[in-house]
Amino acid sequence: MNTAVITGTGSGMGRATAELYLDRGWNVVAVDISENPGLQSEKLHWVTADVRNRDSLEAALAPAITAAGGQIDAVANIAGVFPPTTLETFTEADFRFIFDVNVLGVLNVTAACVPYMKAGSAVVNFASVDGFTVSRGQLLYGASKSAVIMITKSLALELAHKGIRVNGIAPGWVATPGNAATGRMEEAAKSIPIGRVAQPSEIAEWVWLLSDSTKAGFVDGETIVISGADVMR
Ligand SMILES: NC(=O)c1ccc[n+]([C@@H]2O[C@H](COP(=O)([O-])OP(=O)(O)OC[C@H]3O[C@@H](n4cnc5c(N)ncnc54)[C@H](O)[C@@H]3O)[C@@H](O)[C@H]2O)c1
Repeated sequence: MNTAVITGTGSGMGRATAELYLDRGWNVVAVDISENPGLQSEKLHWVTADVRNRDSLEAALAPAITAAGGQIDAVANIAGVFPPTTLETFTEADFRFIFDVNVLGVLNVTAACVPYMKAGSAVVNFASVDGFTVSRGQLLYGASKSAVIMITKSLALELAHKGIRVNGIAPGWVATPGNAATGRMEEAAKSIPIGRVAQPSEIAEWVWLLSDSTKAGFVDGETIVISGADVMR
């Protein structure tokens, strides 16, 4: 049976992606700093861990991966944080927090998983449209997601000889709990050319597609923008 390691499964797109892989019969090793919000499946292996800390992450992941069969077929790096910052407001603590979760976290999880991955497996990293175009008030978040886009390219090259592909997804507006809480989603939808925001489940479908080497086997090092034509790069 196939196994996916998915981070950020406590909420939003990570949770939707875990649900999709579980529905399709995969084992899911679900990683989040929060407790399981209620996902239920005998194929689910919940790991409460902080992606910023490689040692404790590896220690927590190892038994879960073993319990799931000892081999990983897909990794989805979805955990992320997006507090607003500008040159005027940012602090060093903001910088460490945003880059540690969004950038170091991707590296830690990928490094922890690669020893369990064979040819034909895949990594999918979550960037953002903010990594390609400037989003006002997202100084450090945008920079962190640009780093994810470049890390995706570098890791694709580093891991190609093992037959492991590494791609990214750069979502635009998605109907996640965090975005819903801003109360700005309806207004945002009006400015999106296709007239709506994305659903977390449709972004999860792209993780599924990119992790499928029979369909996406020649896609490597790419970050796909999914924004309803809101952002062109
Ligand atoms: N929501 C959007 O519209 C949007 C758009 C573009 C990109 N993104 C990116 O997509 C990803 C998912 O976004 P979302 O809106 O679904 O997020 P969310 O806030 O709903 O969920 C993020 C999850 O990551 C977990 N997390 C945070 N820090 C962690 C850590 N240190 N270790 C382990 N887990 C941690 C949180 O507990 C949470 O469950 C993020 O990387 C985000 O930057 C989101």
